This record gives sequence, C-alpha cells and structure tokens, in this order.
Amino acid sequence: MKILCIETTCDETAAAIVTDELSVLGSVVASQEGLHREFKGVVPEIAARAHVERIFPVIDQALKKAEISLGDLDAVAVCNTPGLSGSLLVGVVAAKSLCLVNDLPLIAINHLHAHVFACQLDAEHSVFPCVGMIVSGGHTHLYSYQSALSAQYMGGTIDDAAGEAFDKVASMLGLPYPGGPAVSRVALNGDPTAHQFPRSFIHEDRLDFSFSGLKTAVRYAIGGPGSKDISHVKLEDGQISDLAASFQQAVVDCLVSKSVLAVKQSGMKNLCVGGGVAANQVLRAQLSERCTQEGIKLFIAPREYCTDNAVMGAIAIERFKAGLFEDLSLNIKPGLVRH
Ligand code: KG4
Ligand code: ZN
Repeated sequence: MKILCIETTCDETAAAIVTDELSVLGSVVASQEGLHREFKGVVPEIAARAHVERIFPVIDQALKKAEISLGDLDAVAVCNTPGLSGSLLVGVVAAKSLCLVNDLPLIAINHLHAHVFACQLDAEHSVFPCVGMIVSGGHTHLYSYQSALSAQYMGGTIDDAAGEAFDKVASMLGLPYPGGPAVSRVALNGDPTAHQFPRSFIHEDRLDFSFSGLKTAVRYAIGGPGSKDISHVKLEDGQISDLAASFQQAVVDCLVSKSVLAVKQSGMKNLCVGGGVAANQVLRAQLSERCTQEGIKLFIAPREYCTDNAVMGAIAIERFKAGLFEDLSLNIKPGLVRH
C-alpha cells in the first residue's frame, strides 16, 4: 500500500510517499524559513501564498523520488488540523483535487498526533499505548494514547509553546529565526546555571506548562528588572551563551519533569516525544537519562522527522486500516481539538 501524505499546517510545504510497512519511498520538505526570517516569526499570509506556489511541485518531486505516478497510489492523506487557516486550506484543497481526479480515497491527519506517530518510524515494536508529548512551535501538550488513533488530552501549555519561547528568546538575543537551532547552538558555549530562571509549576502535581514568565525573566536579565524595550542593549558573546544555556535548561527541566509525571499518572510504560523542539540535543539527552532512572521506555522521533515533514503523516496508514476515510466535504479545523 502506498499513501501520499501532504503537510502544509504552518510554514513547511511537504509531501511524502509512505508504505504500510512504514518505508519512506520519497519525501520532500520545502522550508519557508528564508521568507519569514526578517519578521522573526511566521507571517500567515506569506505562508499561505508560498504553499500555493510550492504544493504541486513538491508533490511532483516526492512522486519522482519514489519513482511512482499518481496511478500507483492507494490514498491521499492531508493534515487538516491544527494550524494556520490559509496554510491548511492549500493542503486540503490540493489533496481533495488529487482524490477527485484520480478516484482515490481521502484521509485526514491530525498534525499533533502525526508528530507523536513519528516515533513509530524508528521503533521495532509498537510504541502504543504511550504518553505522547508534542513540543513544537505552536503546541506543547501531553496526551495519553491507547493506540495511534485514540488519544486523551492530559495537559499542556497555558500560554506560549516551548518552540515559540525558543523563537522569542532567540529574537531577544539577536539570533535568527527559527530560534530553537540558533539558541541551542550558542548554548553549547554557555553555563546553564549562570541564571536561575523560573520553572513554572515544576513542584506541582499538575500537567501544565507556562513559558511566558520565563520569557519575561530572560528579558529582565538582559535589560534589567521591569525593562520593556531591550533593543538598545548590546550583549557580549559570553553573555548570550549563558542566557541561552540557562533558558534552554529551564525549558528542558519543565519538559522532562512534566512528561515523566504524565507517564507516572497514566500508569503507562512508554513515553513518545515529537515536534520541532524534540530535535534539541540537550532535551534528548536529559530525557533519556531521566527515563532510564525511572524505568520508562522512551521513544523520541528521529531528528529529521521532528520538525514539520510529511513522513509523520504515516499515521494515515492506521486510519486506512481502520477504514477511516473522508468525503470531499472535509474541512480545515485551525484550532486545537483536545482529543
Ligand atoms: O514541529 P515544528 O516544525 O512546527 C510546529 O508544528 O510548530 O516546530 C518548530 C519549532 C520552532 O519553534 C523551532 O524553534 C523549534 O521547533 N526547534 C527547536 C529546535 N529545532 C527546532 N527548538 C529547540 N531546539 C532545537 N534544536
Ligand atoms: Zn509541527
């Protein structure tokens, strides 16, 4: 079985052909980083327009890489939730057109559950049942999964997402967008204990995250207590590295502690972690160490499938097997649906 998966939820235009054995026959990701860099974040209108230009060339390229044509496909799958409205629409319309013209079944993908499913791509056995933590630019959430298709919301951020905090702190430190890779790069030379930044709810029994106070604490550390405008502050390289390392450590401490707490509360044994921030080496190393101590089996998405890609859309295979198809009235759901 061969499924074309399409991903256009935010600022990556991606297509991949995956099989029911989870082999990747072809995968293409057209990143828009260059288009959004000067704005230090994703501009929805620019993202949607770029998806329109790129979607069919990206699909063509993925099919070429897989050395197949549309006629060889068994289904087309597309992420229709959550994400930016204009971006989601481009993928959904493209998928519906391909299904209509080629008489193929249509499958809907939830982007968050796809991030967690990315852990399955590298695993020898089923990673389900598990607790799944999605740590991305738009989301930081914990779900308990009985299976790939059955998830219950356990908790999540009450303000910023972890990736969003990396992006905003990068901007304060004068580092480029996307902030995660830039912050983690300079953090390598910094002291993670140089600043004692807040770790919200870390000693509480609740499964929530909050990164907005942490962001403010970084701003005050740069410009002084109560500072609002820090654009005039000039930082030395060593100061930037210490701020980056201390900020990163605070985020990692929160993610490690809440994901472990979620596993303990769920009574499950497996923890799966996906999303752009899961590419972070410090998070990967410290999660792995803590899970070993706690007897938790940890699965982290392969690094190339942490940031947005279409291969994680392989969760569509599960929907295909369960007979979960959509008709051409499939719509987008930009907001988070907590199930
Ligand atoms: O999953 P993703 O590609 O998009 C969303 O679904 O939001 O995640 C993008 C986010 C960005 O905020 C980016 O700064 C962050 O993931 N990110 C990282 C790293 N690589 C990407 N954050 C921390 N460390 C990284 N190495
Ligand atoms: Zn994502």
